[in-house]
Amino acid sequence: ASLTARPPLPLIRFLLQTMHCVGRESNPGVYGSMVITWTTEDKVDSVVEYSQWGGKFLDQTAKGSSVVFEDGGSEKRKMYIHRVTLSDLKPGSTYVYHCGSDAGWSDLFYFTALDESVHWSPKFAVYGDMGNENPQSLAQLQKDTQARMYDVILHVGDFAYDMDEDNARIGDEFMRQVESIAAYVPYMTCPGNHEQAYNFSNYRNRFSMPGDTESLWYSWNIGPVHIVSFSTELFFYLNYGLDLVFKQYEWLKKDLEEAAKPENRALRPWIITMGHRPMYCSNADRDDCTKFESYVRTGRNDTTPPVPGLEDLFYKFGVDLELWAHEHSYERLWPVYGYKVYNGSVEHPYVNPKAPVHIITGSAGCRERTDPFIPTPRDWSAFRSSDYGYARMQVFNSSHLYLEQVSDDQDSKVIDSMWLVKEKHGPQAWL
Ligand SMILES: [Fe+2]
Repeated sequence: ASLTARPPLPLIRFLLQTMHCVGRESNPGVYGSMVITWTTEDKVDSVVEYSQWGGKFLDQTAKGSSVVFEDGGSEKRKMYIHRVTLSDLKPGSTYVYHCGSDAGWSDLFYFTALDESVHWSPKFAVYGDMGNENPQSLAQLQKDTQARMYDVILHVGDFAYDMDEDNARIGDEFMRQVESIAAYVPYMTCPGNHEQAYNFSNYRNRFSMPGDTESLWYSWNIGPVHIVSFSTELFFYLNYGLDLVFKQYEWLKKDLEEAAKPENRALRPWIITMGHRPMYCSNADRDDCTKFESYVRTGRNDTTPPVPGLEDLFYKFGVDLELWAHEHSYERLWPVYGYKVYNGSVEHPYVNPKAPVHIITGSAGCRERTDPFIPTPRDWSAFRSSDYGYARMQVFNSSHLYLEQVSDDQDSKVIDSMWLVKEKHGPQAWL
């Protein structure tokens, strides 16, 4: 269906609206804020008009700025990335907005400002590896998101396949596709291998995560959770600088140290990490996670100096849950450390587990199809599926977290679920 009266075509084309929340913690006293990001082909103003749901329509205006992004392809295509920060949002209130300028406006969208309290139960969609071609889970994600099933979406790396292709037109197209979800809830990301072209330039420019690393690594808080997002790709693309992987490691250490301080952990007991390439997986390929000496897990010895791995670091600070993608499948692991299983008990493996829990959910859908598994699962593998799909997660309170995997091949059937129950957090929980 479409309306018959048509306004003249806008002078600019909208390629993207995506939002994310900025680091509220670094701005004490500033209430919830949201960054709206979009792209145009022309240099025009950066404006968001918005209003609280039910109030006087679009009665508030916020202005931002744009930067030029030049793609690395042969055409050296230029585009303008606009960013506008909405601040002083009322937590829990829903806002209607559009973005653009007097040269042309986007459709209308809405979002709900995140609750600032630690006493609520945020709901997430979690997945990786969604492409421009064959984004099989996107339809269901649109339905879920617009029915307000999620507060946040976590896209754990690998976008578009690939954003830089066809002189970054595939990136444009992908952003238009995910606008149907990313304009409604914060769309939080980390980089994957498919973003590596021209030193991750499409990724670094098109997203606007908190912090000052151009979205490569950052952390943020939501409800009772501290979420740490990082780049596993730094372990693999040393051509972009060996120093970066050390820089990230030092940052991770500092960030986890801070989050693990008793006063902080009392407020936000859950620490959840998200990175693209897993430390463990039982897929039938030759990927890093299939090897005992995975770079991400144990580091690299072929560099000077050697690069430290992340398993010990995450264990030391009592990371509760590690979210991964890259393998185009779903795999739930038993609590694991150093290739050994540390279940809470035989009857209740996820009640007071003695090691972090890993979830791999990288089958949202892309042109590379799904990945099969080796016939016999590893000791630490609890459940696996090669169906297309994505995960839903809700952190209920300081002790209870729920996660389920939805199969898009089986009519959105929930094919796996887990309650992670922890009376204690931090390294003392491992004892
Ligand atoms: Fe990947």
